Amino acid sequence: MTDTKTLKIGLFGFGTVGQGVWKVLRSARNAHAEIRRICVRNISKPRATVVPDGMLTDRAEDIFDDPEINLIVELVDDADASFRIVSTALSRGIPVVSGSKAMIARHLPELIELQRKHDTALLYDASSCGSIPVIRNLEEYYDNDLLLEVKGILNGSSNYILSRVFDHGEDYESALRRAQELGFAESDPSFDIDGFDALFKLIIITVHALGRFVPAEEIFTCGISHIDDCDIRYAREKNRKIKLVAQVVKTEPDAFTMFVMPELVEPSRYIYSVDDEYNGVVIRGECYDRQFMFGKGAGGLPTASSILSDIMARRHDYRYEYKKMEYVNRPHYTTDVTVRVYIRYNRTPIPQLLIFSTIHEQLLTPGHKYIIGDVNLSELIANRDIFNAPDVFIANIPIFFRDKDN
Ligand code: HSE
Repeated sequence: MTDTKTLKIGLFGFGTVGQGVWKVLRSARNAHAEIRRICVRNISKPRATVVPDGMLTDRAEDIFDDPEINLIVELVDDADASFRIVSTALSRGIPVVSGSKAMIARHLPELIELQRKHDTALLYDASSCGSIPVIRNLEEYYDNDLLLEVKGILNGSSNYILSRVFDHGEDYESALRRAQELGFAESDPSFDIDGFDALFKLIIITVHALGRFVPAEEIFTCGISHIDDCDIRYAREKNRKIKLVAQVVKTEPDAFTMFVMPELVEPSRYIYSVDDEYNGVVIRGECYDRQFMFGKGAGGLPTASSILSDIMARRHDYRYEYKKMEYVNRPHYTTDVTVRVYIRYNRTPIPQLLIFSTIHEQLLTPGHKYIIGDVNLSELIANRDIFNAPDVFIANIPIFFRDKDN
């Protein structure tokens, strides 16, 4: 391509990822893109990265009203502000690159409509799995009916915490603090450890994997904050690791399910060896069985690399076409599927509260009780409040595709 188009960027947000984008763009000699203005909430806040005088502003209009700016990069850590910025830009026909997964997962149908109405583009590969190019691959390479499952570790912070606790014997609280210091965790880290960050990514992935948008409230989501030494001991005894796993699975030719839960992972699985802040995504399809993508899913520079990729894609006017949303016979979302779970509890009387179709194993000692059984996912959703009790920890024991894997 000849160098006919230089991108002049208006950047919103200058935190860990925003500063990463600044650095990456300065060394990307073929990007043909420059940051013209950076809009932040607080100009005088001390920042590690020094920018030229006048580059920072706290007025969004300085970016929106600059006729030279032909791309907006939005990296704001506030879902409402982020939606205002992105919807304003798209409504004015200005293309956007965004990393705001919470906002995108909540507003994707409206954002798709805005792109169509104003004939412009929103790219967001950085929103899901940091440096791993999941979205664009699902959109382009996997643009067919073969896909059966996308499953993996989509949250770097919780994986970092679990790795430190599991493999290095650190305590949970100090591992969480370290994840925050290293810039992996969200400003509210409960999003990471309670599974919502992985959920938002899964919702976005599902739109590009199967052409369906499922609202967050309809999806069973449970995180790792109630994990206890006895769960770690149990996993070790069974030669498994506990990982926070998000999955979207075609359970029938015309139906799929999705959920986020800790999982007892066997050593033979690809994701067993995905440790620290790394993410790992397994894509399963007819004809090709499984493929595995691995990489850094959190942190300023890895996420900035994905933003750079989207910026450069805009030089070629790339946009998502949401082709799978137009497919005939798109599968429908169902929660009427059986899952096998390990539930550890103490005071909460799990066997009386949940209906199990089969109980495989049960331990009932005064201080430590668990049950392993088959339960309908809709039963878990209907009783999701149970899992807020601090004495209850749930982990999935995978049963989908067992016939194919063994
Ligand atoms: N808090 C997120 C994570 C950052 O830990 O994965 C990347 O989305």
